[in-house]
Amino acid sequence: MVLVFLALVLISGAVHVNVMLPLNTVNLDGSLNKNLNLGDKFQQLHEGGVHGVMVDVWWGIAEREGPKQYDFHGYLDLMSLASQYGLKVQAVMSFHRCGGNVGDDCNIPLPGWVVRTGGEIWYKDREGHQDQEYLSLGVDNEALFVGRTPIQMYRDFMQAFRDTVSARGYLVSTLEEVQVGLGPCGELRYPSYQLDRWSFPGVGEFQCYDARMLRMMAAAANASGHPDWTGPPGDAGTYNSRPDDTNFFRNNGGGWNTEYGRFFLGWYSQALVDHGRNVLKQARTVFGGAFPIAAKVAGIHWWFLSTSHAAELTAGYYETRMRSGYKPILQMFKEYGVILDFTCFEMADQEQPSSADCGPFELVGQTLDEARAVGIGYASENALPRYDDTAYSTILYNARRILKISGFTYLRLTADLLSGANWSRFRGFVSKMAAL
Ligand SMILES: *[C@@H]1O[C@H](CO)[C@@H](O)[C@H](O)[C@H]1NC(C)=O
Ligand SMILES: *[C@@H]1O[C@H](CO)[C@@H](O)[C@H](O)[C@H]1NC(C)=O
Repeated sequence: MVLVFLALVLISGAVHVNVMLPLNTVNLDGSLNKNLNLGDKFQQLHEGGVHGVMVDVWWGIAEREGPKQYDFHGYLDLMSLASQYGLKVQAVMSFHRCGGNVGDDCNIPLPGWVVRTGGEIWYKDREGHQDQEYLSLGVDNEALFVGRTPIQMYRDFMQAFRDTVSARGYLVSTLEEVQVGLGPCGELRYPSYQLDRWSFPGVGEFQCYDARMLRMMAAAANASGHPDWTGPPGDAGTYNSRPDDTNFFRNNGGGWNTEYGRFFLGWYSQALVDHGRNVLKQARTVFGGAFPIAAKVAGIHWWFLSTSHAAELTAGYYETRMRSGYKPILQMFKEYGVILDFTCFEMADQEQPSSADCGPFELVGQTLDEARAVGIGYASENALPRYDDTAYSTILYNARRILKISGFTYLRLTADLLSGANWSRFRGFVSKMAAL
């Protein structure tokens, strides 16, 4: 194991800017996508002062042939190309499906042999719809997948990636960080706002109706002396409800703030924290004590300024006006030396519709504050593609607002970004970040 690494990168003065690569950087057959002409683009990024690139290492591509039949060759070619242009690589262990979320312009399901396992392996909503983006945490420790559990599959995948990179010594210094996917979109969350059923700013739905999660909940209820709490709340509306349309989420006197509501939300959010811990523990063992590992938390800014924070609750963050839903996650990250990667850095409250109580500014502020208090690294991204100076100013402001962030990954590399005035504005932004 030769992944040796310089933690110094994280504390040096400039805030590095990386660029997220297209979702189809590696083809479904595992080869590097030559149509993207990445060599020319990397040359331009390098000249523009960009530090590195982020790439999804898709589970559905790299282990597509069968259990433990790993094929990382397209990713190795990519890393080798990046190193030729002096760019570093943030590799994302993407254990989720690509397709069906904001900005997804391609479709990469989980490996076919995983999908074919069938049964209750996915998150399920109250209507019984199963979401095939990411395996339910209910099966985390069930050896259903040709003899392995999901936690073992994630560990084996990360280990194989590590060994493959280590075997090419010259790539070790190119791999600067591994980001560990923990849910849909790579984020530690439930798939509570699936785009084919939800539209902004609906509250979303709880996703704990698969048989195992229902049993977990009933056991927890019974253990807390309430065998009568037999299931998740039935009065939480549907994907596109507004908080005050539902008994559970309504701001005044809603079910969320009853003894049962607090039990349920505590259980639902803790199950997510435990899932994150189980995966990150493996990641830390695989990559060794000092290697930078990051993980993503979703930026759910709609209804943030309301009392019940409905959309965060369905996503698994037990955040209300009375308590923080992020601190327990950040404390868990701290146990494994994991950097928080948080989004929404380009968003201003006044850019959002006023009817949805959006608070990206306050949400980003809270997470920065808590990361500082807990003592973990904080890296960030923009949530939606933007090419304008207003967005860049907001990012620059947030980047040194409460703590200085450890890096910024710009979403995403497109032809628009690299052309004309868009490119000169971006270059200006990169140099201002370097001077922070
Ligand atoms: C419920 O809790 C009681 C008391 O702790 C225990 O005896 C019983 O076995 C539990 N039942 C289930 C189904 O877990
Ligand atoms: C800059 O980006 C905008 C927004 O995507 C796009 O409409 C425009 O064509 C781009 N400009 C150039 C020169 O590509």
